[in-house]
Amino acid sequence: MEATFREKAIDRIAKFGRKHKHLRFLCYPAAVIVVAGYQFILLFKDNTKRLISTACVLCAFSASASFSYPAFSMASGFTSGDANADVMGATRGELSLNDLLASMEESDTEYAATLNAKSVSVEEVVDEKALSSEGESEYTDAQDGDISSVSLADFAGVDVKSDLADAEMTADGNAVFLPDDWRLILVNKQHPIPEGYDFPLGDINRRMHCDERIIGNLLEMMQGALDDGISLEIRSPYRNLNRQEYLFEAHIQDYMEKGLSYMDAYSVTSKAVTLPGSSEHQIGLAIDITSSGYSALDEGFANTKAGQWLAENSYRYGFILRYPKGKEHITGIGFEPWHFRYVGTDAATVMKEEDLTLEEFWDRHVYH
Ligand code: DAL
Ligand code: ZN
Repeated sequence: MEATFREKAIDRIAKFGRKHKHLRFLCYPAAVIVVAGYQFILLFKDNTKRLISTACVLCAFSASASFSYPAFSMASGFTSGDANADVMGATRGELSLNDLLASMEESDTEYAATLNAKSVSVEEVVDEKALSSEGESEYTDAQDGDISSVSLADFAGVDVKSDLADAEMTADGNAVFLPDDWRLILVNKQHPIPEGYDFPLGDINRRMHCDERIIGNLLEMMQGALDDGISLEIRSPYRNLNRQEYLFEAHIQDYMEKGLSYMDAYSVTSKAVTLPGSSEHQIGLAIDITSSGYSALDEGFANTKAGQWLAENSYRYGFILRYPKGKEHITGIGFEPWHFRYVGTDAATVMKEEDLTLEEFWDRHVYH
């Protein structure tokens, strides 16, 4: 009787093992792979229905598995924030991803031209365009026709009270920072937005929103800057989960088009745009701010009068420069001189005096 494929394969592998003694250890796995592969092919040979249903199951599994995110845009790969942020009513950006990438190409042709080569390293890309400038520069939330930002003049006549008194005090007058204080909520890659997190969403204008409890302090800060001759502009406040996902995916696509592998594009992106479900923009406590004279969200803002004023004075109004230079290893995010996070004036003062990030502040000052 003629030997079967399986017998022939095992016989050949055994012969190979006898001939090449030092490679004998490979024979067993090779035999398993060949026999299993053969059985697998037999399983689907002449059975199209089985093939199709197995393919469907595999596709469904891939689409819902976290390892495939964001190749498939299902939020299952990320935690918690999805439910709460989306119900807040802010709408998804109107530009399609293709429109967005097309406009990026236009606005950045020189950069694109340098990256026409088939493959480039992460370092090359990051060198070309500093990590910190990757934030949201091309993707601000101000997309309302000609309105690209909001300045203090837009608030004329709005009566908003600021809340400059903050943390609880001990009898001897020291501030006590409690872990359940909404102003201190720590949101980062390791601490996603808690499930069910709720907050009052206030209007900055028709398209821009933030936690309404911080609008008073924001206006006070803008007025304070104006008193010193600086016209601040709000560029990107609250975002819902969809918007954060959109930004994250757009950055990855952009980097991949410029030659990075998916893994490298993901890694570079996650240092500039927080993982969806873990962004402070989603809880309405972070505001990207520039000035009337400098609208780009890039490192250059740090050298402007407005950037320096904010870095020096924002704490007086309860805001901190959330992603400082030199602390990237703690925050996990590149330097963002435009991203300010409300924490309340007491906490901001301590952070400013002791040069702490929010992560460090939690370690040292929050009772938990
Ligand atoms: N650009 C900041 C890190 C964010 O996406 O939340
Ligand atoms: Zn930001």
